[in-house]
Amino acid sequence: MVDPRLFGEIDPPQRLLMGPGPINAHPRVLRAMSADLLGQFDPEMTAYMNQVMALYRPVFGTENHWTMLIDGTARAGIEAALVSLVAPGDTVLVVNFGRFGLLLTEILARIGAVIERVDAPWGEVVPMAAIAQAIERTGPKLVATVHGDTSTTMAQPLEGLGALCRAAGALSYVDATATIGGMEIATDRWGIDVVTCGLQKCLGGPSGSAPITISEAAAAHIFARRHVEQGIRRADISDGAGLRIGSNYFDLAMIMDYWSDKRLNHHTEATSMLYAARECARLVLEEGLETRFARHAAAGRAMTAGLRAMGLNVFGDDAHRMTNVTGVYIPDAVDGERVRTAMREHFEIEIGTAFGPLQGRIWRIGAMGYNAMKHKVLLTLGALEACLVAEGFVLPVGEAVPAALAAWHAW
Ligand SMILES: Cc1ncc(COP(=O)(O)O)c(C=O)c1O
Repeated sequence: MVDPRLFGEIDPPQRLLMGPGPINAHPRVLRAMSADLLGQFDPEMTAYMNQVMALYRPVFGTENHWTMLIDGTARAGIEAALVSLVAPGDTVLVVNFGRFGLLLTEILARIGAVIERVDAPWGEVVPMAAIAQAIERTGPKLVATVHGDTSTTMAQPLEGLGALCRAAGALSYVDATATIGGMEIATDRWGIDVVTCGLQKCLGGPSGSAPITISEAAAAHIFARRHVEQGIRRADISDGAGLRIGSNYFDLAMIMDYWSDKRLNHHTEATSMLYAARECARLVLEEGLETRFARHAAAGRAMTAGLRAMGLNVFGDDAHRMTNVTGVYIPDAVDGERVRTAMREHFEIEIGTAFGPLQGRIWRIGAMGYNAMKHKVLLTLGALEACLVAEGFVLPVGEAVPAALAAWHAW
């Protein structure tokens, strides 16, 4: 028997989360999460669900009716989209430029898709002409990619991708987890069929809810695979002729029926996460999309300027940098993990490590959502400078913060 008193109440330290996500949730989001629970078919609850649909349309830059939440982290949204769009044996072209492009291939492999790839080296993006050639070469049913890949800090340009896919008879999917609410997501203008995300980056919430938007074309494709589970079958909902979706939890047809007026019972909607997602979207729209993008751009510009003023080398292609996460090379003589530990222990600031080929080579420093603020960028730079000096790294002391301030005020 564990004595519960041994562990005490949850009382985490006040860390400033300046990595690639998660970030500190906005206090309004945390407050919304502490509101009382409702039953999942309570009219107040279903009204909140409809409000969430309305709030996320502008956040996604879409008019899509099917704009809602998948319960689970961002990966749940990705998996729901892919398992519902792709059947075993379907050819999918993955536009890959980092770890999260590779994650798409991992999920697709489990579905049994035939995976084709068009790649860019980590730190670059894939040119649209190369995507067009790959679509012509492979004849995919779906083209899948990531907007901002936090593993490399690059943002893939997506203007024109939807038109290319439509001309080839393919659907399109984008993981916008790391950029939504911080950089523009223009689902309809880009012509993307399905876009998913998570709350824990520029939307300023905790992880655990995955907003999704689905075009009419994709919805038709998904409903053609509808298979209502035994025990909840109803005369007014019929199965489609297509192959049953290979997951029950992530079956978008059933989830859409739950979010429709039919309110077909599927999972029990995660009420507190829905409150969180709703408040995140309200915050984004209250601030205004353009102002919010400009704030993230100012934070990214300030961070980059400060790092460069310290004499550090910023990672990746300048022209395609995400505004909200910056990769920076760990100087040769410096132990990256010791610096991260010192940042956490002395300053209560978390910065990110890296994956795959970049592990041990770069730090990833984020400024997103509630943390894309001038003082948080300046605090992070000041702390990093102090930790680097303590490690014996020779740098132009006192330059970073003024450089960052000047770059912020270029906004
Ligand atoms: C681009 C991208 N996609 C997906 C994910 C996975 O998100 P989650 O951990 O919420 O499942 C992340 C998380 O870092 C991400 O940056």
